[in-house]
Amino acid sequence: MLRLKSASPTANLISGRRILALGASFAGLAEGPLKGAAVEMGSVAQLESLPPGAFDLVLIDADAWDAPTLAAAVKALSALRTCPPVLMTGANLPAGLVRNLMRLDAADILESPYTPQQMTAEVQALMAQAQPAAAVAAGGADSRCWAITGAVGGSGATTIAIEIANCLAVQSGKDRSVCLVDLNLADGAAAAYLGAAPTTRLADFGNAADRIDAAMLQAFVTPVSRGLDLMAGVRDPNAFDTVGRDAILRMLEVACEVYDWVILDVPRHRRAWTLEVLAGCDEVLVISELTVPALLAARAQSDEIEDGVGTGLRPRIVLNRLASRMFGPAPSMVEAEKALQRKAEAGISSDWEAAAASANLGGPVAQHRPKSKIVKDVQLLVERLAAQPPRRDTASKAA
Ligand SMILES: Nc1ncnc2c1ncn2[C@@H]1O[C@H](COP(=O)(O)OP(=O)(O)OP(=O)(O)O)[C@@H](O)[C@H]1O
Ligand SMILES: [Mg+2]
Repeated sequence: MLRLKSASPTANLISGRRILALGASFAGLAEGPLKGAAVEMGSVAQLESLPPGAFDLVLIDADAWDAPTLAAAVKALSALRTCPPVLMTGANLPAGLVRNLMRLDAADILESPYTPQQMTAEVQALMAQAQPAAAVAAGGADSRCWAITGAVGGSGATTIAIEIANCLAVQSGKDRSVCLVDLNLADGAAAAYLGAAPTTRLADFGNAADRIDAAMLQAFVTPVSRGLDLMAGVRDPNAFDTVGRDAILRMLEVACEVYDWVILDVPRHRRAWTLEVLAGCDEVLVISELTVPALLAARAQSDEIEDGVGTGLRPRIVLNRLASRMFGPAPSMVEAEKALQRKAEAGISSDWEAAAASANLGGPVAQHRPKSKIVKDVQLLVERLAAQPPRRDTASKAA
C-alpha cells in the first residue's frame, strides 16, 4: 500500500463533504449547521447499495422512520464493506437500535432536541474520528501498489501497465478492484490505448490537495471494465508544471484507500514527486527492450531508483518484446542479464500484431488477442509478483 507522509487531513471537516440525510427534518442543514457541505436528501433503501466513498457521512432522523425500517437501515450499513460515519438523531432512541448502531466503525447519537452548534460539533467529531478508520475499512490496509516505468521511450511501459492492471482485475473477480493511474500527466497514452476518455483534472486543485477524498476520486476515474478503473489526465502540455506534488500524493493515497490494487504508469523522467511515489510502492518494474542502450539505461535507472528511494526497495527489470526468432544481432536473455549485471524478473514476448490491434481497437491485448503470448507472459509475471509478501510485511518482519 502506498503510504505517504505528506497528505494532511482536511482542515475544514465539513466544507465540501457529501452527506446523505435521511429524514425531512434535515432539510436546510446545508444552509445552517452544515454550511458548505453537499447535503443530499435520501431514502433508507439507498443504504443497501451505497457505493464506497459516495458519502462522507450518513445522517438518520430516527423519529422519521418506524422501528423495523430503522433496524433494516442499521443492518444495511453494517453490511457495507466501507461504511461512512453515521449520526442518528432522535428522542427516546431504543437501546437495541443504539447498541447495533454503535457497532459500526464510526457512529454516534444526538438526542433531540439539539442546537445547531451541537449538530456541527457532532458531525465534525465523527468526520475526524472516521478519517484514519476509513482508510482501513476501505481496503487501504490491504491495498497494493505497483509502479511501471520505462528504461527508454517506447519500451512498452504503458502496454505492460495496462495488461497487468487488466490481469489483476480479471483475477480478483471483484467490482472496481484495480485502478490504473497514468502519471504521464501531459500526454499519457493509457486512455487512448484503452479507448477510454480521460477525466482527471488535478491542476484544478492548486494548493487545495487536502480536498481530494474518496468521493472526489470517483469523479476522476473512467470505468474500463467491471474490475478496472482508469485515472488519466485530460491532455495538457503544461500539466507537469501546473499539477502540484501534494495533489498527486494525496490522490494516490486516496486511490490506495479505495482500491485493492493501484497500478501506476510512471514517466521515466524524474519529477519532484517521483521518488516519494516509488518509495510508497510494493513493487517497481523497469521495462526494457532488448537493445544494448535500453539494457544499460534499465540498469542505470534501476540503480538510481534504488539509491534515491533508500528504503531497500529494488526495482525489478522486465524485458519486453522478446522475439522467438531474432533478426540481427539482438542480445539473448543471457547476454541481456550480463549487461544488466542482474537477473531480469521476467520476459514478455513480442507480438506487434496483437499490441497494435488492441491499441487500435481500444482495450487490453487480453481482450482483443487473448491467445497472444503477451497475455500469458504478463499473467505469469502477475502471479509471481502477487505471491510475494507486500513490502509492508517484509519491512515489519525485518524491523
Ligand atoms: N510485447 C510487445 N510486443 C509488440 N509490441 C509491443 C509490445 N509492447 C509494446 N509494444 C508496442 O510498442 C510501442 C510502444 O509501447 P508503449 O507505448 O507501451 O511504450 P511506452 O514505454 O509506454 O512508451 P512512452 O515512452 O511513449 O511512454 C507500441 O506501439 C506498442 O504497441
Ligand atoms: Mg507510455
